[in-house]
Amino acid sequence: MSSIHTPQRDVVHITLVGAAGRMGRAIARCIADAPIQGERGSRVALHAGITRAGSSAHGTAIDGHPGVRCTTLVAALEGALEGALEGASAGAHGAAGHVIADFSSPDSVISTVAAIRAKYGEKPRENSGFGRPETGVRRPAILVGVTGLGAEAVAALRGLCDRHAVMLTPNTSLGIAALASAAQSVVRALGPSYGVAITESHHAMKKDAPSGTALRLAEAIARAGQPVPREHIHSIRAGDIVGTHTVTIAGPGEVIELTHRATTRNLFALGAITCAKFLAHRPPGWYTMDDLAGSFAGEEASSGRG
Ligand SMILES: NC(=O)c1ccc[n+]([C@@H]2O[C@H](COP(=O)([O-])OP(=O)(O)OC[C@H]3O[C@@H](n4cnc5c(N)ncnc54)[C@H](OP(=O)(O)O)[C@@H]3O)[C@@H](O)[C@H]2O)c1
Repeated sequence: MSSIHTPQRDVVHITLVGAAGRMGRAIARCIADAPIQGERGSRVALHAGITRAGSSAHGTAIDGHPGVRCTTLVAALEGALEGALEGASAGAHGAAGHVIADFSSPDSVISTVAAIRAKYGEKPRENSGFGRPETGVRRPAILVGVTGLGAEAVAALRGLCDRHAVMLTPNTSLGIAALASAAQSVVRALGPSYGVAITESHHAMKKDAPSGTALRLAEAIARAGQPVPREHIHSIRAGDIVGTHTVTIAGPGEVIELTHRATTRNLFALGAITCAKFLAHRPPGWYTMDDLAGSFAGEEASSGRG
């Protein structure tokens, strides 16, 4: 049986790095359960599931995808990737796209970047058109949901964004993007005499602390003029908490608390699929959840519902 799914046109093909992990399995299940997602209309398919060569999952079939066996990224990129995109008209609505989604580990992201660079080269040739190297094969977009990345991994990813659409997001929830925006508004309204703290709670197995989401919230609040010192970011690791983030803004005689509570890990898996669909047809560049949220706002306005 093939380790790589038979490619189809008009489908966003996802190559999932970390396919055997908790998030990887959740994303694969969501793709199997609902390959046609309502928003944006396009279909998604699991193109390949990536595990480490030495992993016990290597070579096994992915739950819900009997035609897809776990393989390495190098093998997947050497396989049917070109076929997946042959003949697709890049950039057109409904055209096929390919996204490499990495939900594995910080070390693995470095390997992912190295494999992509080895496959697609350093620089696009002149006149190759955005996202379309000289072979006529569209370069895949890259979605990284891994948290706790070091500076080296972030720089390596940024080094790809002149020729690939790249998104690094520690939290694929649109609700978290909205929380960041709301916290910025409150902080701007109240000014620097109000103190800000962030509390994040996650399951006991989570390896990094504070969460990448808490750090991104702190960065967003700092952009609104209120730095959040690291000692004001508090972490709780207990039980099977999926993920809770609270921004507390406190001043003389009053406290404002903004809380986002993830109730199911599927939130992040479905969010990852939404991110993949968003990225699949974007030109090269560095994208954030704000770009994704903004694209929904743009759709609302253009459909007259804004
Ligand atoms: N962006 C979001 O919304 C979001 C949401 C939840 C989690 N996350 C993040 O996603 C990441 C994964 O979380 P998780 O809970 O799924 O962790 P997990 O259960 O530990 O899964 C990670 C998987 O990655 C695999 N892996 C490690 N190195 C690899 C490599 N070089 N190539 C291929 N696979 C490799 C691991 O395999 P082995 O076990 O064999 O090493 C494991 O199966 C974490 O950084 C987490 O913080 C992000």
